[in-house]
This record gives sequence, structure tokens and C-alpha cells, in this order.
Amino acid sequence: MGKSYNIAVMPGDGTGPEVTVEAVKVLKAVADKFDFKVNLTDYDFGGERYKRTGEILPDSGVEAFRQHDAILLGAIGHPDVKPGILEKGILLKARFALDQYINLRPVKLFPGVETPLKDKGPEHIDYVVVRENTGGIYTGTGGISMKGTPHEVAVQSMVYNRFQVERCLRYAFEYARKYGKKSRGKGQENTLGLVGKTNVLTYVFDLWERAFHEIGAADYADIRRDYYHVDATCMWMVKSPEWFDVLVTSNMFGDIITDLGAITQGGMGIAAGGNINPEGVSMFEPIGGSAPKYTGQGVINPLAAICAAGMMLQILGEDDAANTIEQAVMHVTGTKLKSLAAGRMGYTTSQVGDLVADHAVNG
Ligand code: IPM
Ligand code: MN
Repeated sequence: MGKSYNIAVMPGDGTGPEVTVEAVKVLKAVADKFDFKVNLTDYDFGGERYKRTGEILPDSGVEAFRQHDAILLGAIGHPDVKPGILEKGILLKARFALDQYINLRPVKLFPGVETPLKDKGPEHIDYVVVRENTGGIYTGTGGISMKGTPHEVAVQSMVYNRFQVERCLRYAFEYARKYGKKSRGKGQENTLGLVGKTNVLTYVFDLWERAFHEIGAADYADIRRDYYHVDATCMWMVKSPEWFDVLVTSNMFGDIITDLGAITQGGMGIAAGGNINPEGVSMFEPIGGSAPKYTGQGVINPLAAICAAGMMLQILGEDDAANTIEQAVMHVTGTKLKSLAAGRMGYTTSQVGDLVADHAVNG
């Protein structure tokens, strides 16, 4: 018998539980096939529990998460709860408390999936954004003074220290070495592109840029280094996404460009992300929201959640199982689904899960 993994499952709100069921279905199917075990524990943090008990993600919940090998999240966001409360109280709290300092967001167009980018196909859209996930403007100091007066002042600082920048860059270089285009047989060299704004944010991105080249020259001479301003990055993501291999960037810039990336790969029904603490407990999620209006109808697309489970296995070191899930998802998008959109897939949520699980197990 292979390894055994303790997974915390947090289905969350809206359609989160429905897509999580399918991700778990696929997870169990590949676990049997690849001879490892998953022990799943459910946690009901989310809008319903908050409404019932006033509790969002208590410290005891964070402590419970620490006892697991990984966390699989469905979706956060409830129509009766003011925006921000659950996002900050669950998602951001878990990221910060568990020091998940990397947010890994592949931007990959699967076969058969429609992209809004003209004349682009799966051979053009296949890169990964490594987003710093616990620093920058998300945690910088700030405040408001003279509120409500014409002289009101609001400050929210983008703060980075060398330690935060360096550990993120090192993760990105390692990732590029292992999973860059050359390593995947898809390019001449493994490339890491730093996305910044050195022409205006001359303090913060000077730190990023110096660290990038120092670390790169010293320890990652095998990896080609590129630099892009964030605004230009948005342009190239639309015009020439094939240029990109692995990109690394700050928290806020990463947040923004990965929504753009997600839409180029077919939208929120397919985009997955990992909140990663390479030395600790990581959390994996479909990055679309809870889509409350589709709740309970069996029409929502579970592929993003299934891809999140695949990414979880990759980070846990079960690369074969992770690849198998990705191949199965590609088979389903390429040969089965009519569309990724809710209600227009040609299959129910559960049937899509069955199709992926079946192809993952039987080929
Ligand atoms: C994301 C989301 C979160 C973020 C929100 C919900 C706090 O947009 O995961 O990209 O800004 O990081
Ligand atoms: Mn976002």
C-alpha cells in the first residue's frame, strides 16, 4: 500500500458542495488506481455556518487544518452575507495563518474549450502564474483619517521584505526548473518572467528585480530570466500568450492578471488555484465563485474543482495521479462537453465527474 493523505474538505457555499463531491469522486478513483489512500474530513465553514453560529473560521478550525496534509476548498461566498466577510474571514485567514505564501495559478487552454482570444489554441495558452500570496498590499499597513471630511486621507501600503520576496522567487525558479516548458518537452528553455512595475514602483519592484537577478544568477543559471511590466503583461496575455512559461509576481498584480488569465483559458468553470505553503499545509480551490443562482440544480461545471484536486496531488508528490486527472479532464473537454458554461455542458455536474473518473481509471 502506498502513502496515505489526510485531507480537510471544505465544500463551502453555493455550488461549492456540488463541485466538491465530483472532485472527491475523482480523487478516490485515482487513489485506488495509483495505490495511495485519502482520508477525508469535512469542515462546514462558510456562509451557512456563519449565519447559524456567527463563527467564520475560528482559530480551532485553523488548528484542525494544521493536522492535515492538504485542504480542498469548494467555494466561499453567500448571497446573504456582506461581500468581504467570508472572503477575508475564511480564505485570507487560512492563507495568512497557514503561511500559504504561494498562489499557483496555471493558465492552460484545454482541447475543445473556447477562448475569447482570436486565433489562439491550446498550443498558445499554457503557462503558470506564481503569485506571492501573503504579503504586499494585502497585508501592508494603512488607515483612514479625517473620514467623511473633504480632507479625508486613506493609505494602504505595498510592503515587502527581502525574505518574502526571496522565498517566493525561489519557489518560482524551482517550479520553472521542474515544470517549465523545456522540462515538459514543449520548449527550448525553461523561462521565468518577473512581472512588476519597475518604472513607477521604484522601491518595491527594485527589491523584487534585484533579488530576482541575484538569485537567478547564483542558483538558477539554467533558467532564462525575463522581465515584464504588469500593464504590458496584460497586453501580451491577450496578444501573444505563447511567450509565457512561468511568471512570478506580487500579490495584487497576481490577483489581477490571473482573472485575465482565467478568462483566456475558458473562464471560471475551469480555472484552479493552489494556496501553497511548501513546508506546511496547502489549500486548493476552483477560483470561480460559489455561483449561488445555480445551487442544487446539478448544472454547474465541476472541472475547476477536479483540476484543483489534481493540483493538490501534484503538490503532494503524486505526479502520475495528477497527470492522469489532467489527461482525463482534457479528454472530457476535448471529446464530450458542448460548453463549459453552467447548464450548457450537455451533461449534469455528476455526469461530468463520472466521465473524468472513468477516463482516469480506464483510459
Ligand atoms: C482570489 C480572490 C481573493 C483575492 C479574494 C476573494 C479575497 O480574488 O483568490 O484571487 O483577492 O486573493
Ligand atoms: Mn482574485
